[in-house]
Amino acid sequence: MANSSPIQHPNALTSGDFTEADEPLRLFATWFEEAQRSEPSDASAMTLATVDDVGLPDARMVLLKGFDERGFVFYTNTGSAKGRELDRNPKAALVFHWKSLNRQVRLRGPVEAVEAAEADAYFATRARLAQIGAWASKQSAPLESRMAFEKAIALAMAKYAVGTVPRPPYWSGYRVKPLIMEFWHDRPYRLHDRIEFKRAATEAPWSKTRLYP
Ligand SMILES: Cc1cc2nc3c(=O)[nH]c(=O)nc-3n(C[C@H](O)[C@H](O)[C@H](O)COP(=O)(O)O)c2cc1C
Repeated sequence: MANSSPIQHPNALTSGDFTEADEPLRLFATWFEEAQRSEPSDASAMTLATVDDVGLPDARMVLLKGFDERGFVFYTNTGSAKGRELDRNPKAALVFHWKSLNRQVRLRGPVEAVEAAEADAYFATRARLAQIGAWASKQSAPLESRMAFEKAIALAMAKYAVGTVPRPPYWSGYRVKPLIMEFWHDRPYRLHDRIEFKRAATEAPWSKTRLYP
């Protein structure tokens, strides 16, 4: 996936000891801006953890495509393993690891589907071939051969040879709404700094705790 322009937040904190922060979203915005400047490749890459229907955890990388007070958004095929897991159990965890900064951010919470209009707007910004790929891929289903996939791509290209490519009904976004966010920063001799923000509900105020490393 192409690296798009940096995702920015207007109220990012500018400086100071991060453990003094009293609210996680602005701290995340600051760290994310710094990561976008310092990571050699995609600072928006994050691990998404879900659980399957027997409670077995599952995890894979996805790309953060937006965040604000409503939550953290990524896009995918809703019929994929992750999509099916989220439909059955709409809860997830995300982990960012920015090696260039020795920082980690973890968050957990309920997940909701992104509105159709928001997904349409994001889909429209994707490269045409990525849009075609979304039509051609039955993500996570068995694929008999690379040739079969290339045939599906050719068919989708022929179908959408002219005009805009619409968003497939099975391709959309999910928003993880954090109830817990933890910020971790490496310190010498593994005496790391950790702070955890928690709230009882997505509209409730945050409380902050410092954790042993
Ligand atoms: C850096 C990176 C970013 C990725 N971003 C996405 C993404 O935003 N959406 C997506 O569906 N898959 C993305 N993938 C592929 C997923 O990791 C995964 O292979 C795919 O979504 C199928 O996962 P599932 O079978 O658990 O649903 C990415 C992979 C990597 C390595």
